[in-house]
Amino acid sequence: MKKNRNLKVSIVMGSQSDYKTMRQAEITLKKIGISFETKIVSAHRTPKRMYNYALKVEQNNIGVIIAGAGGSAHLPGMISALTSLPVLGVPIESKKLKGLDSLLSIAQMPKGIPVGTLAIGEDGAINAALLAASIIANQNASVKRKLINWRSSQTKSVKKNPK
Ligand code: RP5
Repeated sequence: MKKNRNLKVSIVMGSQSDYKTMRQAEITLKKIGISFETKIVSAHRTPKRMYNYALKVEQNNIGVIIAGAGGSAHLPGMISALTSLPVLGVPIESKKLKGLDSLLSIAQMPKGIPVGTLAIGEDGAINAALLAASIIANQNASVKRKLINWRSSQTKSVKKNPK
């Protein structure tokens, strides 16, 4: 178990083009008040960068990885193969198959190397941030309070009457 309880979230994505989706994870973590870093790491275009990132990620005080990728979307699974940290995959909405390719690539990991898979697109990015917060909250009472407060404001924002 790590001694430092102020663990950060690491957000990675396969391409600059994924950022318009993945920035929703940043926005959500900022709202809750959780520290994060953001990087572009491509499994096929920058394989050495991905390898070095995954090998060092635990030393860098990271507790959860959120990895967004589109198309063949092997980034989350490859990172999960290189670290035992929890990896949450966000399927990016692809142009040709609307993200179904990304979703199946990320969700259908063969047994042995898990990736927690969220919904396609911005909903997935937001929920990945919330799930990362829940994981970190297990060992961090301050993050737990922030998450409970965030949920409580969400509940209060839902009107009873549609008119
Ligand atoms: C994947 O290929 C990325 O995650 C991205 O979603 C997709 C397309 O990348 P670009 O061609 O837009 O750089 O690696």
